[in-house]
Amino acid sequence: MNEALPAIGRRIVRVDSVGSTNTLAADIAREPDSHGIVVVAREQTAGRGQYGRTWISQPEESLLLSIILRPPPELHRPVILTAWAATAIADTVFEVTGVQARMKWPNDLLVDGRKISGILIESANETIVVGIGLNLSQSREFLDRAGLTEATSLAIISYYRVTPPRVFDLLLRSLNSRWERLMMGNYASIEADWKNRMGLQSHPILAEHYDGSTITGRLHDMSFEGIEIIRDTGAVEVLTPETIRHIRVL
Ligand code: BTN
Repeated sequence: MNEALPAIGRRIVRVDSVGSTNTLAADIAREPDSHGIVVVAREQTAGRGQYGRTWISQPEESLLLSIILRPPPELHRPVILTAWAATAIADTVFEVTGVQARMKWPNDLLVDGRKISGILIESANETIVVGIGLNLSQSREFLDRAGLTEATSLAIISYYRVTPPRVFDLLLRSLNSRWERLMMGNYASIEADWKNRMGLQSHPILAEHYDGSTITGRLHDMSFEGIEIIRDTGAVEVLTPETIRHIRVL
């Protein structure tokens, strides 16, 4: 690897049309030196979302990309990689629009309560693929007509014209600077940003585990190590972030 180049995006694979950039990235991930390769598509014909959902986007309306990572073992943590990607996307949204995005557990980025970006993290051939979809140029009318009333785009919230190459460059820059922090063992600023954007502190919540079980209480604190909930009884429970599918404010 050329150390002078930024790690993330040191090679960019651009495709016109692909089923899913995550699937193509998983194939490319077999290459031994695949860390940092970014796959970006103009169009996806079988885009995937979380929980087996489909991710639908019209050609060139969204930034569709997947990043191949071969992280050190301590970074094989979906919660950390989600926070890394989400905070980098939030940086980008802010630089383009001046608007601060919020996070919705576990992987969504929202502006004005509407989803602007989603992240899909998958393991592939001993690597991790981080897929990002960021809505760029859809109009309010277009999204409403498509039944996507809960979605928004950079164009909707931006006063200025959105130029996709600039958005892509800003995102890569932020992904790289935040990746460097993680590689230096500096998780604190990303963790704090992730926690603030979730905005769950002190709220009564219901957390649902992947096995379907639920727990309610007041969210006391959250870190990559655990979500601390104070139950009605006063007992404190610490939940492992990766076991939680949903968190809902009550
Ligand atoms: C979600 O919100 O459910 C996650 C959506 C992730 C969509 C992106 S688009 C690029 C990459 N390729 C995919 O097939 N999915 C992710």
